[in-house]
Amino acid sequence: MAINVTKSSMPRFEEYCEEIKSIWETTHLTNMGPIHNRLKEELKKRLKVENIELFVNGHLALYCALKALGLKGEIITTPFTFASTTNAIVQAGCVPVFCDVKPDYTIDESKIEALITDKTVAILGVHVYGNICEVDAIQKIADKHSLKVIYDAAHVFGVEYKGKGIADYGDISMLSFHATKVFHTIEGGGLCFKDGALAKKIAEQRNFGVCGEELTCFGTNAKMNEFQAAMGICNLRHLDEELESRKQAFERYNEKLGKVAGLTLPPIHEGIKQNYAYYPVLVAKEKFGLDRDELANKLAAQNIFARKYFYPLVSENKEFGKDMTENTPNAKYYSRNVLCLPMYAHLPLEDVDRIVDAILK
Ligand SMILES: Cc1ncc(COP(=O)(O)O)c(C=O)c1O
Repeated sequence: MAINVTKSSMPRFEEYCEEIKSIWETTHLTNMGPIHNRLKEELKKRLKVENIELFVNGHLALYCALKALGLKGEIITTPFTFASTTNAIVQAGCVPVFCDVKPDYTIDESKIEALITDKTVAILGVHVYGNICEVDAIQKIADKHSLKVIYDAAHVFGVEYKGKGIADYGDISMLSFHATKVFHTIEGGGLCFKDGALAKKIAEQRNFGVCGEELTCFGTNAKMNEFQAAMGICNLRHLDEELESRKQAFERYNEKLGKVAGLTLPPIHEGIKQNYAYYPVLVAKEKFGLDRDELANKLAAQNIFARKYFYPLVSENKEFGKDMTENTPNAKYYSRNVLCLPMYAHLPLEDVDRIVDAILK
């Protein structure tokens, strides 16, 4: 049987049907309906954040965040992320400036200040694979230079740092509730933010710039519908047990791959509540014997489908028209050598063993 890199969590069919039943009575399908509002309150508590607004997907949420903050200029970010991050920056009319990453795959805060110019308006860090950026150091730099801080927090649903939800750091954090994520609403996303005054601006961006009988900006349409929200309500109920099963798979990989020469296992930050979202291994051919692509092909031949994530780098987008990777050698190296092994809720430990055996062979 094939083992894929990810598998979407599904509530029982009857559970989902029960949750969507009321939609046939209310006929309220979208536009911030009652199920949407319930999910919003539940997520606020679960994520330990001050404010949250829900979206049809994470990408449009990020785009709306940049627009709601009124950013125009350069945004320091990293190329080691999914295409969405850079696309949102460019679509919002800003210019991405690429900073390199550290061995935990997140932005190297020691390299940020050298990239600041008089056009810089914000730092957009990406929390990668469940690892978090150095949020305190980044905030200090931002305060010193009067910059906004935005986080692409698509990978860190439920992660906590110093007892606070990770999405509560920075001016705005974007979460993705895509089907492949730790928590999903089929497609979906959220913006978490401290300044309550942003709620109105974010809502206007999400709904065509409509505010009562006024049009206040050129907004888009990014509203979460009731069927998405109902999936979220169901999935939230099972999240703790799912996180526990992810943890078991993660620890099994650690235990069995720990001594394999040439494989660097996922870096773990001490003192954070983790979500075990991904299991990236860094493959060094000299010691391991195969390079990342060869390993991926060998696994695929055994029906095990790992993912080259993130490859290529977003800075390799043809639209840039030039090589944008030369100042980010770490990001380039990781994009060529990281392989994400299968990781999802209820991944059977026997399957982890099969994957490990295939790697060892
Ligand atoms: C790092 C990162 N940023 C942004 C996104 C975009 O989120 P969405 O698919 O919900 O639009 C994703 C995932 O898809 C992601 O992994």
